[in-house]
Amino acid sequence: PPKIILDTDPGGDDAFAILWLMSLVKQGLAELLAVTSVEGNVNAKLTFTNACKLLQLTNFSEIEVGRGVIKTQKEIADAAFIHGNDGLGNLAHTLPFPQQSYEKARYSDEILIENLTTFPGEITIIALAPLTNLAAAETKSPGILKQAKEIIIMGGAFNIAGNVTPEAEFNIAYSPEAAEIVFNSNSNLVILPLDVTRSLIFLPQMAESISEVNPESDISQFILALTKAMTQTSLSHRETQGISGFLVHDAVTLAYLFYPETLQFQRGRVEVEVMGKLTKGKTICDRRHRAKMGTNAWVAQQVNSADLFAAFLEDLKILV
Ligand code: BDR
Ligand code: CA
Repeated sequence: PPKIILDTDPGGDDAFAILWLMSLVKQGLAELLAVTSVEGNVNAKLTFTNACKLLQLTNFSEIEVGRGVIKTQKEIADAAFIHGNDGLGNLAHTLPFPQQSYEKARYSDEILIENLTTFPGEITIIALAPLTNLAAAETKSPGILKQAKEIIIMGGAFNIAGNVTPEAEFNIAYSPEAAEIVFNSNSNLVILPLDVTRSLIFLPQMAESISEVNPESDISQFILALTKAMTQTSLSHRETQGISGFLVHDAVTLAYLFYPETLQFQRGRVEVEVMGKLTKGKTICDRRHRAKMGTNAWVAQQVNSADLFAAFLEDLKILV
């Protein structure tokens, strides 16, 4: 099974991606080496704690969680207005108290460097958040990201509007400089942008169909409650064009790794605007055959959301 490091800022949709991954780990289809938490949707301490709590909820509390590098100069606000002040729809207090402590945790970039050095060419990094940890690892240890087998990123907006500025998507806009370092790292990049994730609307009836398998379990209860909370904020911010549900952006990365037939890709040269007054954080993909710089990434163009959700529901039913 693939060796995975999950870089994440939970985050309601991150939580669903984590649940999906833990189901795959439970089935013996994936090996999770570590979770590297990072500041993004909410602050670094909360994302660390939420990651620990989600691992505990799924009975994987022994997996190490790293603490995120804190970005001192903030360009955009966090996303608590979507994910709740605690990052988990104000439900974090209902989850088990974390056994790992933020103060004693190793830094996420250190964990990335150590694992990539130990297993060169073997690790798949799944990145669901601002690319701060990955960029920090690359800056401290130039060339380290090339040691990853693949880096699968949920981020960017190419042929559609952004979700935090007219042109930019949250994970990239949060730190365009970090994204630039990762895009220029000559590593094996797979990018799953807003272009495909904006059609991934998770519906309350999907949560119900999962929970029916084992209605009393803590995981079922959490899935139902988080779906309700995320649906409310998403509706009030018109994230789903009035459809009752919410976008599970980050889950798309698991679809790529385990159900690749649900996605279609093009190869190109991806770059990020780091200077524009109106366009800072915008991602651009040069798909011309004559692209001078050479290509650096696979960029998802289309997703079969029906097939993706069918696989997602099957796997979550095994977890609850
Ligand atoms: C991305 O931004 C975050 O708010 C989500 O968790 C996701 O990773 C979507 O733009
Ligand atoms: Ca995220």
